[in-house]
Amino acid sequence: MNKEEALQEIALEIENCDICKVDKHGKAVPGEGNPDADVLFVGEAPGRTEAETGRPFIGRSGKLLRKLINESGLKEEEVYITSPVKYLPDYITPKPSDIEHGFTHFGRQIEIIDPKIIVLLGRVACLAVLKQNVSVVLRHGEIIEDNGRKYFITVHPAAALRFVKMKQTLLEDFIKLRSLVGN
Ligand code: URA
Repeated sequence: MNKEEALQEIALEIENCDICKVDKHGKAVPGEGNPDADVLFVGEAPGRTEAETGRPFIGRSGKLLRKLINESGLKEEEVYITSPVKYLPDYITPKPSDIEHGFTHFGRQIEIIDPKIIVLLGRVACLAVLKQNVSVVLRHGEIIEDNGRKYFITVHPAAALRFVKMKQTLLEDFIKLRSLVGN
């Protein structure tokens, strides 16, 4: 089985996962992009637009994220974009149990894609992957090496749309990311 087939199998598993669907609605949003991506972007949970279409980061914050990806010299088709929680929760912030369960699918997506760098967009992405509560405000722009993987912490684009200061932070972090990914 190649990487694309393996990711498709996980997407199907997410679509049929009754645990993922508890207190959530809309379509499954497993993620999309290049199965061989060097850079993996990780968000929080799908929003309304994503749950309507089944595609990650295509609403307002997604437009900002995709713009910054393209401006970094990366191409959307080259990277992989996903979130640890695969359905839109009935509440605003996903619960720890949503994040923990989401990781049963998402952890395997990481193994399959095996990216060179994982960009953690906000607190929920950090919690899902690093298993710790991280102050993104204090630690954004940091590179963490753990378990043979490289992580880059930054703010979630939704926060950047709400707070001017966060937008500045996100823009500065993407400039740093650009040099890290060699563009
Ligand atoms: N925010 C996320 O964290 N993920 C999405 O897919 C969309 C918005």
